Amino acid sequence: MAAEFAELISILPLDVTDTPACEAAVAEAETILGGPPDLVVFAAGAWQPMGVSDLDPAVARSLMNVNYLGAVNVLAALLPGCRERRRGHIAVIASVAGYRGIPRAAGYGPTKAALINLCESLKPELDAAGVRLRLVDPGFVATPMTAVNDFPMPFLLAAEDAAERLFTALTRSSRFEITFPKRFTWGLKFLRLLPYGAYFALMRRLDRGRKRG
Ligand SMILES: NC(=O)c1ccc[n+]([C@@H]2O[C@H](COP(=O)([O-])OP(=O)(O)OC[C@H]3O[C@@H](n4cnc5c(N)ncnc54)[C@H](OP(=O)(O)O)[C@@H]3O)[C@@H](O)[C@H]2O)c1
Repeated sequence: MAAEFAELISILPLDVTDTPACEAAVAEAETILGGPPDLVVFAAGAWQPMGVSDLDPAVARSLMNVNYLGAVNVLAALLPGCRERRRGHIAVIASVAGYRGIPRAAGYGPTKAALINLCESLKPELDAAGVRLRLVDPGFVATPMTAVNDFPMPFLLAAEDAAERLFTALTRSSRFEITFPKRFTWGLKFLRLLPYGAYFALMRRLDRGRKRG
């Protein structure tokens, strides 16, 4: 694929946990493009199930380094150029797993909650600076990340379908949050409104169902 579109696509290998490498990659992209990119989608991410029996600081740190601090690295490298030119469109892929704590997501969920909070925090200032920040909270998508999951994934989308929905939302809507499929993600939005008693009753049922297989 890269060879087929070699004249249109430049590929810059990048580890988003490496702050200087993010700065260098943004500088190189700006040189190639002759200015700041029109659109950046931060999609780097890692997932590993974690709960009470396998709570592991090294795993938590590694997930936080990629999912959250990786986004901070990329945003910190991109934003000065965007603000200076008063343009730019940046989409950060978080997840509905960041809405509330979910059993077995004790490593991943907090990284996505942190991303959601980060984007909410930065948006008002970026609006004033003429830079568009979008938050993307997908449900389940069939990718290598979810291929390892051994639990039911309701409303699982094909990767091509998810990419199409993301592209359409990025190019045709101006909403801050992009979320799909709505039948699933709006249900999770409703769960955010539940008081703890009702929420934990539901999560205990979910966890018991998972343990029964
Ligand atoms: N799949 C889902 O159901 C789902 C749902 C909600 C949100 N998301 C989020 O959507 C995003 C894309 O996930 P995906 O489902 O497409 O998973 P994926 O197939 O596992 O892709 C993850 C991507 O992140 C890259 N990556 C990992 N560590 C990196 C690092 N240190 N530096 C740079 N890139 C790194 C990987 O690159 P390499 O292949 O080179 O390692 C890979 O391209 C993630 O943020 C994920 O959390 C996914």
